[in-house]
Amino acid sequence: MKKRNIIVALSLVLGASTLSGAAFATVTEKSAKTAPADARMMTLHAMMPMLSVASAGLKTALEKGETASVEKEAEKILAAIPALKKSRPHKNVKQRKIYLKLAAKLEETVTSTVGLAKKGDFAGAKTAFQKVEATCVACHVKFRD
Ligand code: HEC
Repeated sequence: MKKRNIIVALSLVLGASTLSGAAFATVTEKSAKTAPADARMMTLHAMMPMLSVASAGLKTALEKGETASVEKEAEKILAAIPALKKSRPHKNVKQRKIYLKLAAKLEETVTSTVGLAKKGDFAGAKTAFQKVEATCVACHVKFRD
């Protein structure tokens, strides 16, 4: 009788630990797969309005020929590139290579826009800026809902 009680108690303990083990596995799996992905998406939501404001500012600065403002607005966009590369879109998530390429292209086009403006070539800078806008659009077409 006593032995049986011990066995029952033991299997209860084992059962409980197996259960909590399973629960633990679910939680860690969730935080490993879901939470960072959500965080990466949140980054994107937080970042895009800033990109929008900065690129509008860049456009205005180019029209006015204000090199200092061009640099300031371009800096904001360039500072966001590493986070953009780490972010994760909702759509076509698997096409990561293209996503990273477009993020790199944003960096390139903004860099060449500011480079031309600094040389005083505002006509060239405006043409380069059209490629910035085209890159925003290209990424949205493929990766934005
Ligand atoms: C590498 C890809 C990529 C580039 C480049 C990019 N975007 Fe986005 N953008 C996205 C994605 C993906 C979303 C959708 C965000 C979401 O649904 O979480 C988005 C959404 C937005 C939104 C809507 C806000 C929101 O949270 O949904 C604005 C505004 C925006 N982008 C502006 C810009 C501007 C301006 C540029 C260029 C200067 C730009 N984006 C470049 C990927 C990109």
